[in-house]
Formats: sequence, C-alpha cells, structure tokens
Amino acid sequence: MRLPDHKEERIRTNEEVEQIYLDQNYSNEVYSGKKYFIKTYGCQMNVHDSEEISYRLETLGFEKVEELEDADLVILNTCAIRENAHDKLYGFLGRCKHLKDTKKDLIICICGCMAQEERVVNEILTKYPYVDIVFGTHNIHELQDMLLNRVKGTDIEVYSYEGKVYENINYKRDSKVKAWVNIQYGCDKFCTYCIVPYTRGKQRSRKSSEILKEVECLKENGYKEVTLLGQNVNAYGKDIEGELSFAELLESVAKTGIDRVRFVTSHPWDFTSEMVDIIAKYANVMPYIHLPLQSGSSNILKLMGRKYTKEEYLKLYKEIREKVKGSSITTDIIVGFPGETEEDFNDTLDVVNECKFDSAFTFIFSPREGTPAEKMEDNVSLKEKEDRLHRLNDVINKYSLIHNEECVGKTFKVLLEGVSEKDDTKAFGYTDHMKLVNVKGGLDYIGEIVDVTITDAKSFSLDGEIKK
Ligand code: 5AD
Ligand code: SF4
Repeated sequence: MRLPDHKEERIRTNEEVEQIYLDQNYSNEVYSGKKYFIKTYGCQMNVHDSEEISYRLETLGFEKVEELEDADLVILNTCAIRENAHDKLYGFLGRCKHLKDTKKDLIICICGCMAQEERVVNEILTKYPYVDIVFGTHNIHELQDMLLNRVKGTDIEVYSYEGKVYENINYKRDSKVKAWVNIQYGCDKFCTYCIVPYTRGKQRSRKSSEILKEVECLKENGYKEVTLLGQNVNAYGKDIEGELSFAELLESVAKTGIDRVRFVTSHPWDFTSEMVDIIAKYANVMPYIHLPLQSGSSNILKLMGRKYTKEEYLKLYKEIREKVKGSSITTDIIVGFPGETEEDFNDTLDVVNECKFDSAFTFIFSPREGTPAEKMEDNVSLKEKEDRLHRLNDVINKYSLIHNEECVGKTFKVLLEGVSEKDDTKAFGYTDHMKLVNVKGGLDYIGEIVDVTITDAKSFSLDGEIKK
C-alpha cells in the first residue's frame, strides 16, 4: 500500500485528503481512538515536520495527548545539530522504556535528523531494541504505511529521496493565526561544522507557484502570518532553472496581501541588496532578520567555510539597518571553533559591540561526525570555551535589554497568539520586529493584530497593554 501520488495542481482540503486515504483502503480502525505523544527537538524545520506527522497520524484515527504516560504511540522527532541533542534523546528514551515495561503495546518511533545518521540508527538497533520504528527526514510520507504494515522487529525507513519535493502536504498546524511555509529543503552551503547538509540533503526548492498557492490558501483560511522556511532562504530558487529569486518570491508573497510575512534563516553570502530593498518596500514584510554571524573573525569564518569576511558581514548589516526602518536583527554565534584564539574571539566581541544585536543564540562548537570541522584539531579547552560563551552572553544580554528598554512607552502592532504561559490573565504575541509581549487586556483579542503600548522591559520579553 503506497500513499497517493500528490499530482494535483491545487491544495486539497483536509476532507479531500481523508477521502483519498479511505479510497486507498487506509483503514483507521486499527488506531482509532489510540493516543500519540510527540516530542520535537531542534529547529523550526522540525517543528513544522511534526505538524505534518501529527496530521498523518490523525488520518489514522490517532488523538494527540500532552502526557507521555497516556500514549499508545510515542514519536521522538530528533535534532542532530549538537552532541547534547543525542544525550537529551537517550535520556528521554529511558523514560519510554520504563513506560513500555508496563504497556507492552506501546509503539516507540524515532524520526528527524538523528535518524539520518547511520551510526545513530545502528546504535538504536543494537542498544535500544525496544524502539519500533525509525524513519528519516525524507520519509515522513511513509509514516502511515509503516504503521499500517507493521511487522515484528524494528521498521526502518531512512532512504534518501533527495531530489524529490512532495507537494500538497497537509499539516495539523499548532497555530490558527500563524503558519510555517517550507520554501526549500536541505542546504548546499556545507559550512564545515554543520551536519544539516548530510541529514537533510542537498537544497531542493519548492516551485514558487506551489508556495504562492499555499500562502493564498492560508490567507483564505484566516491566517494572519506566514514564515517562509528554509535553511538558507536567500539561496531559494537557485537549484531550479528559470525559478524566481528569493527577492522575487518575497515580493510575490507580499503581494498576496497576507498581513505579515517573515522568513528564516538567512545566509549573509546569498543576501542581495535587492532582497533588502523588498523587505524595506513592503509594509507586510516584517522588519525582522535573523542573520547568523557564527564568528566575527575572518580567519575563523574562512575555516568555517562561511564565504564572507567580517567586513562583508558588517557592510550587509549596516545596509539592512539603514534601509529597513525599525528593524531588529538577531544572530547565531559559535565559540570555541577549532583554532579560535583569544584574538579571534575578541573580533567576535567587536562585531557584537558594533552591531548591538537585538538578541542572539550562542553555542559552544560541537564536533559532528562526518563534517570537515570534526577532523580539525580542537585546541581550545572546554574551560576556555565555557568562559568565552559566558563573556559573550553577558554582552549579548546587555544589548537585548537595551533594545527592549527602548520599546517602553512606544506602541507596536502585535499579533496576539494565545494565553500567556507566565500569566493566564494576559495574552502573548509578537511585534512586527519579533519582540515577545505579554499583553494585559489582550485575552479578548486573540487572533487579531492590535496596537499595544509597552509598559515594561525584561531581557527576553516585554509587558504591554492594549492601546486605549
Ligand atoms: N556546533 C555548535 N553549533 C552549531 N550550529 C550548527 N552546527 C553547530 C555545531 N557543530 C549552530 C549554528 C547554526 C545554529 C542553528 O546552530 O550557529 O546557525
Ligand atoms: Fe548548516 Fe551552513 Fe547550511 Fe546553515 S548554511 S544549514 S549552518 S551548512
């Protein structure tokens, strides 16, 4: 039994997809009323994959639960970007094993980026025999098949259908107001530290016509915000002859008239002035750019294979700040890359002091199997790496707070997404420039874009109230 080939030109409604499964003898009797628990590690790409996985499970009759203990099926959608991701997974697997001791029929399933790593799959097979299903990032569409055709032992589907882009995918989206929209899969950049090109394959862009259809459909269904998703969105279309550039795609998406358009992640090397102009030109393209720096030292950037120098990064950064009014720019930085000297690290601090990023994700270098950086001599001690991370975070946090304090007293448009986790008398949402705000008086406006006056600033969030 195979999944239907999605050849139709338009996006199907959920009912139509369900009908297709029924026509193909996809019976949901086996799993009707069964419960699934899904745990997602890592980036937005995984979060969005989990939305697809959830949809597929629900076509089989599964219902989602929030507690592991209530589950008949556990899905662990894994991340491989740093070593600690492995430790987290194995820790959680221990809990699953414990549950399976009392619940013999429990199905345990591992997917995501770690499932694309040969060593990990072998390790699971030998050390974790109670895992039932392993499927890779290219095999999500096989999930219903695997569950319906389960044989004894561990089912493994981690073939790489690289080249192939599936269209008309349905999702059980976590939000009713904002949606992820994949524009490309994989990455061709091969930064020397990064495992993504190995776990997600080479870059495959979706056709712009399909992306635009999806955005139109989301808009018709009341979505207020889309985030165009890819590992290097700026390289969008380069792998398809005659396809739009990212600047052109962004412009077309803006012209659909959806209230808000965002995009992640950007690579400075592929970021053109034309793209900056489009961001500046359209009011519904949000003035928020996540622009990973990785290091402020041109020597280290070269070793990382990032293809830009410190000066080129700064030039682009300044161009964005100058042209895009009210912008916020965030970044990713790795400390302790092999060969990083104190001088290199000081270059990173210099760039941070010059750019004054709105915020940043900071990491200690983690050698990943099979990447070029794994073979480079790691001559920075762990103590030194931790010390650098600490010093870097102090500076980053200082600027985050300054940026947030500058918001106090000002009014911003905020898309209210739901009830605040910290205080259930408030709603939470994000400003155009991606600042998290907890909003007093916001509960009646969830799902709407409202004017919010900022009353207080913390390092990682703002407090505000509906503008009177
Ligand atoms: N070690 C540490 N950080 C890494 N990142 C990617 N690979 C590694 C690694 N091997 C960071 C980069 C990237 C972010 C998603 O994760 O900063 O932008
Ligand atoms: Fe990894 Fe570099 Fe591709 Fe980003 S651009 S996913 S860091 S290889």
